[in-house]
Order: sequence, then C-alpha cells, then structure tokens
Amino acid sequence: MAPLQIGLLLGSSRPNRISPQVGNWIKTFLESIRATSPEFSISTVDIETFGLPAFNKPVHPALISDLSTFISPSVRAWNHEVAKYDAYIVVSPEYHAGIPGTLKNALDFLYHAWAGKSAMIVTYGIMGGASASEGLRVILEKGFRMKVSSFVPRLEFPGRDPTKNNSSPALMEAMQGKLSVDTVKSWESETEEILQGFKEILEFATAK
Ligand SMILES: Cc1cc2nc3c(=O)[nH]c(=O)nc-3n(C[C@H](O)[C@H](O)[C@H](O)COP(=O)(O)O)c2cc1C
Repeated sequence: MAPLQIGLLLGSSRPNRISPQVGNWIKTFLESIRATSPEFSISTVDIETFGLPAFNKPVHPALISDLSTFISPSVRAWNHEVAKYDAYIVVSPEYHAGIPGTLKNALDFLYHAWAGKSAMIVTYGIMGGASASEGLRVILEKGFRMKVSSFVPRLEFPGRDPTKNNSSPALMEAMQGKLSVDTVKSWESETEEILQGFKEILEFATAK
C-alpha cells in the first residue's frame, strides 16, 4: 500500500506568525515516532503562499465537483493542493476566541477537495486555543462532513497570570514570532494526545 499522504495546514498568515514553527514541531515529532502503521508522509501546506482573494465566488464550492473548473488560478491551485491528501492536520492559533479570518476564508473556497475525509485539529493559545478548536470542529464536521479525531490537542502558552488578563512572557514572545524553548518543553506533555489523534485519522483514512 502506498504511504498515506497527510497535509499539515498552517492556519495563520501574520509575517511574524509562529504557526510554521508549531507545525514543524508537530511534524518532527510524528516523523520521529513512526510507531504507527500504515506508512505516512506529512507535507506542510502554507495557505499564505496561495495568495487567495477574500471569498468572491458566485456559488458554493459544493457545486463545483471538477476542481479544474475553478476559474481563479489561486483558488484552483489551493483546491488541487488540498485534494492531494488522504487526511489532514489543521494547526491553528486562536484569534479573538475563534480561528483566524484568513483560515476561514481559505476553507470557504473548498468543498470536494476534502469533504468526508479525516482531520486532527491542533490549536494553540492562552488556554490552548480551546474556542478556536471548538469552532473549527463545527466547521469541519458540519460544513464539510469531515471526521474529526476525538483527540484534538490544545497547546497552552505556559505561565499565564490571571491577575494580568492571563498574559505571560511566553504569549508576548509568540506575538513577536518567537516560540520559546520553555513553551516547547511545556508542550511535551501533549505529544501523547497528538499521537493518539494522528492514529485516529490514519485509521479513518485507511478504512475509507
Ligand atoms: C488578532 C489577534 C487576536 C488574538 N486573540 C487571541 C485569543 O482570543 N486567544 C488567545 O489565546 N490568543 C490570542 N492571541 C494571541 C495568539 O495566541 C498569539 O499571538 C499566537 O502567536 C498567534 O499565532 P500566530 O503567531 O501563528 O499568528 C491573539 C493574537 C492576535 C494577533
């Protein structure tokens, strides 16, 4: 059997975002474990590189089953890229208690490229991006009829101070684009959850 192709989507677009570092940490961890069967290959998909416009289509993408008929080159390329994968890891920060607008905008251009497939959601934020995680689950399950893993790791910035609006040095560094060593160390406790969620999406992709 050919290796399962996993697309790891980066959910933020700020020039100084940390999502590439978070995605790379998850990818490196999963590739180092390989305690799973079947074989897999993880590719990072950076939404930002597609140069998508703000959603401007006359119809719902569910009405476009032939992806090559998307007229806009960027939207067509985005759909073709997403369609390549058997399952997904969506890595997203939390912005204002939800997912970033740029991520939602990019997802609105999709339907057949990934409808019905499986995904693990990994969020990060002050409280692990819990609100973004819940919101994204609704979007993927209800909007795209996807199978979201029961394990959805939520990576918290350590050291939050409730007397200072839950701020922390780790959060301030993240806002400036730096994923601190202490933050990554504190996330090691979440690796088992990441592995379990990953196994779930592999299993679902294999059964399909
Ligand atoms: C516009 C904006 C809104 C944010 N809102 C939240 C929030 O609601 N909850 C939270 O935990 N962190 C929030 N943050 C902090 C982010 O978790 C932190 O900046 C993180 O680094 C963002 O991910 P990124 O670097 O990949 O863009 C917000 C950051 C920005 C820029």
